[in-house]
Amino acid sequence: MESLSTIIVEHAERVGLIKLNRPEAYNALSRTLIKELLQALKLFESDPSIGVIVLTGGDKKGFCAGADIKEQSELSFVNAYNQDYLKDLNDGFFAIHKPIIGVVNGIALGGGCELAMMCDILYASETAKFGQPEITLGTIPGAGGTQRLIRAIGKSKAMHMILTGETISAKQAEAAGLVAKVLPAEQVLVVAMETATKIASFSAPVLAMAKEAVNEAEELGLKNGLHFESRLYHATFGLEDHAEGFQAFLAKPKRAAQWA
Ligand code: CAA
Repeated sequence: MESLSTIIVEHAERVGLIKLNRPEAYNALSRTLIKELLQALKLFESDPSIGVIVLTGGDKKGFCAGADIKEQSELSFVNAYNQDYLKDLNDGFFAIHKPIIGVVNGIALGGGCELAMMCDILYASETAKFGQPEITLGTIPGAGGTQRLIRAIGKSKAMHMILTGETISAKQAEAAGLVAKVLPAEQVLVVAMETATKIASFSAPVLAMAKEAVNEAEELGLKNGLHFESRLYHATFGLEDHAEGFQAFLAKPKRAAQWA
């Protein structure tokens, strides 16, 4: 990967870690940051030694303050319409089959809250705050907020956040179902990395199928969703990892499965 100016990429065992790194602008989503983030996601997606991706904001300035307001202030309607670069961000996340854990360690505002919601599992620090303040700028969420927030926390709470621009705390986000776990700031990334390591120890193709089936629940009605799940469930019976998982469970004594 070429040299990076807005993110830091690391890996630990089978976990790929991406840290947003524009502290001077609260990790706002500049075009460069989006380009580098998408490159890093693609790189981890194509690397068989990586099983899970963790996305966080670094220690200093929280997770992300949303679209880069300075860049956006220069865009006309036609430029915004033609560039459509937030669609690239959504499309980039849709293309990732590996699980992505988002670690929100401070503010996640506007496109930052939307970026968090593109992840599959969210952990938050006790100091985290989530909000869609676009209304205060004379615009609306443009990277999925009006669609994903309602699915995550329900219409009334989503409408409240989007129409008032008010933030919710990590605890409120957890109670509403947006966040899976809230932890002290100094522990949240450590625990998320442990969870990522655990998830990455399972069969990679089975993880991808589980992620795809869960995501389809948002696209399909129940009947079609159950049908889709059955197709993938049956497909797992064709995997070597399926045979291995079942044999390892039935072995006497029971043994740990060795995934392909
Ligand atoms: N874009 C660009 N720069 C940003 C930024 C953003 N979203 N958020 C903060 N910054 C910059 C500030 O301009 C400032 O830069 P300078 O030092 O050069 O002046 C620097 O970060 C520090 O910001 P503050 O002085 O405001 O710091 P603070 O600690 O008082 O407040 C904050 C921090 C609460 C994050 C506040 O900066 C803020 O409210 N930021 C904007 C959040 C927002 O409205 N996000 C929505 C953007 S629109 C969007 O995201 C659309 C979409 O759906 C995709």
